[in-house]
Amino acid sequence: MSEAIEVRKGLVGVYADESTISKVMPETNSLTYRGYAVQDLCEEASFDETAFLLWNGELPTASQLAAFQAKEKANRALSPALLRVLRDFPRDAHPMDAIRTAVSFMGMEDPDTADVSEPAQRRKAMRLLAKIPTAVAAAHRLGKGEEPIAPDAALPFCENFFHMVFGRVPQPEVIKAFDVSMILYAEHTFNASTFTARTITSTMADMHGAITGGIAALKGPLHGGANEAVMHMLKEIPSPEAASSWLEGKFDHKALVMGFGHRVYKNGDSRVPTMKKYAEVMARVVGDERWMRTSAVLADIMLTRKNIHPNLDFPAGPAYYLMGFDIPLFTPIFVCSRITGWAAHVIEQGRDNRLIRPLSLYTGVEQRQVTPIAQRG
Ligand code: COA
Repeated sequence: MSEAIEVRKGLVGVYADESTISKVMPETNSLTYRGYAVQDLCEEASFDETAFLLWNGELPTASQLAAFQAKEKANRALSPALLRVLRDFPRDAHPMDAIRTAVSFMGMEDPDTADVSEPAQRRKAMRLLAKIPTAVAAAHRLGKGEEPIAPDAALPFCENFFHMVFGRVPQPEVIKAFDVSMILYAEHTFNASTFTARTITSTMADMHGAITGGIAALKGPLHGGANEAVMHMLKEIPSPEAASSWLEGKFDHKALVMGFGHRVYKNGDSRVPTMKKYAEVMARVVGDERWMRTSAVLADIMLTRKNIHPNLDFPAGPAYYLMGFDIPLFTPIFVCSRITGWAAHVIEQGRDNRLIRPLSLYTGVEQRQVTPIAQRG
């Protein structure tokens, strides 16, 4: 009987539901959000416009965008209670653990937590989009023994994030490179964290629970945590000239090379060329070509020797490093972006919900009798 059952480990190739949010086309290495090519969004639109698109299905008009931005700006502040909690986190807590806990706390404070109607979900999504960067920046600064910097409602989304992390806003090329990374990280169909968020939503649990679960899944180095792992790896390589022999050592140990490979794309990740272009811009702005030169050697050898292409985390890691971010902030920045995709999926799942509950093929011992403890020896 069991021979007839096909188990798709890792749900490889399984279509778990329909979705109208984004489409990955591995045969052409392309990705669209609501029908728009992600590269075009990077060049012609902003992260705020992309967030609006993901949540509403259409790009905003100028007045719709202004209203969206005004709402985001008005919701950035954290409650005094959450700020107190952030101060009590262990100093060496990873910022991903901090933001996971902060989002869970936000769920206990949110006036709409228990309301899973679509208008309430949309209000919560906006509050999460606005507050997550504030909590990421505050937790990071507190971890370094620095005071949090309050959000500045005069600044747009990306500028405000730099302001809250560093206390200053960098030049426009840096903001553009960051904005592009935020667009590219915003959404990617049924990846592990999004599927986690949809699974939690399918039980009719609340949005903050779904996003907390999504953050927990994103932290792993096989998923979002790879952008941090990439930078640790690049820093381990003494120079671009040493990259080839370093990689041979990894091959000898059959080790994973971080930032390479993808479950869906096997011929290249659609997002890489755009992110690479802006990582190169960052290298020029900073005047430090080392990371891109090392990356180029690794990418070349991985392709010729293993036929494995880089994924988005490969250029995003050095881009964030060149922007001046500490490595443990890289995956939390991914959260600041992916909240848009997660929330879109939570809303979509809620519209036509069916509990997500797959089967498992039992391979344990046959059914047996319970022996009372006195007879077990
Ligand atoms: N380094 C070295 N080898 C890799 C590799 C990598 N980054 N990614 C895949 N491979 C190898 C696998 O070992 C496997 O080899 P085998 O057939 O000899 O066993 C082969 O390529 C196929 O990979 P597979 O394990 O089927 O891929 P997957 O779809 O299960 O996994 C990832 C996809 C993303 C989890 C995997 O590529 C990986 O771990 N990458 C590194 C982490 C990373 O960058 N994650 C971010 C993803 S966006």
